[in-house]
Amino acid sequence: MSSGPGVFISFEGPDGGGKSTQVRLLACALARLGYDCVCSFEPGGTPIGRRIREIVLDTKTCGMHGVTEFLLYAADRAQDVHEVIIPAIDEGKVVLADRFVDSSLAYQGHGLCMDIQSVRAVNEIATGGLRPDLTVLLDIDAALGVARARGRGKGRSSDSGDGNCGGDRIEIRMLEFHERVRAAYHEMAEREPARFRRIDVTEKSIEQVHQEVLAIVSRFLEKRGFGKVNSNAHS
Ligand code: TYD
Repeated sequence: MSSGPGVFISFEGPDGGGKSTQVRLLACALARLGYDCVCSFEPGGTPIGRRIREIVLDTKTCGMHGVTEFLLYAADRAQDVHEVIIPAIDEGKVVLADRFVDSSLAYQGHGLCMDIQSVRAVNEIATGGLRPDLTVLLDIDAALGVARARGRGKGRSSDSGDGNCGGDRIEIRMLEFHERVRAAYHEMAEREPARFRRIDVTEKSIEQVHQEVLAIVSRFLEKRGFGKVNSNAHS
């Protein structure tokens, strides 16, 4: 649980599930409803994080050890937590995080078969023990998700610019890797039903998923008695 007066909501899931789009749409909808929101994303949500993102996702980065990769994500997260997330929670805002610790558990812990206890321990240091109050899992078939993610690769900041527009360094991993990632998310959601809400996005439009996300999050905020900044705001 977050400790400040704000609320901390993370968005997780395999590649290609549309997290960034949904976070953006949700932030706009919540703002219209009068909530004061701040968005964060990993990797790369801070100036320092953007430099880490370039190294960790560039397909031209060769020979990176799994532990190095894991520590880079943790370093990016530490910066994000201390520069963006905690200050916003302390100011009483609704923080919407596009990926958090569960991504490292799924991708590096299960995907790369790293020791889960070590992944948890390092992330405790990176985050100071901060945990999301709510996690929305946008679940998608691994093969479909990777195909979607690779299809939209061209021109992003993590694109190597060498004509290889078929995905970043993580997205181009074997399908088995992405299937382990997805299975890990399922396991986490089953183990922590109070925190996770899973939405299967496979056959849904962006708008359908948005309405589901909005319903889940507004219900959660209302149940927590979380106040709106502008009580005259309307939808
Ligand atoms: P993301 O920015 O969510 O993807 P996109 O570029 O499609 O918006 O994340 C980039 C990649 O980084 C994604 O394949 C998942 C991976 N990742 C990890 O492997 N571990 C982590 O801890 C995080 C935050 C991301």
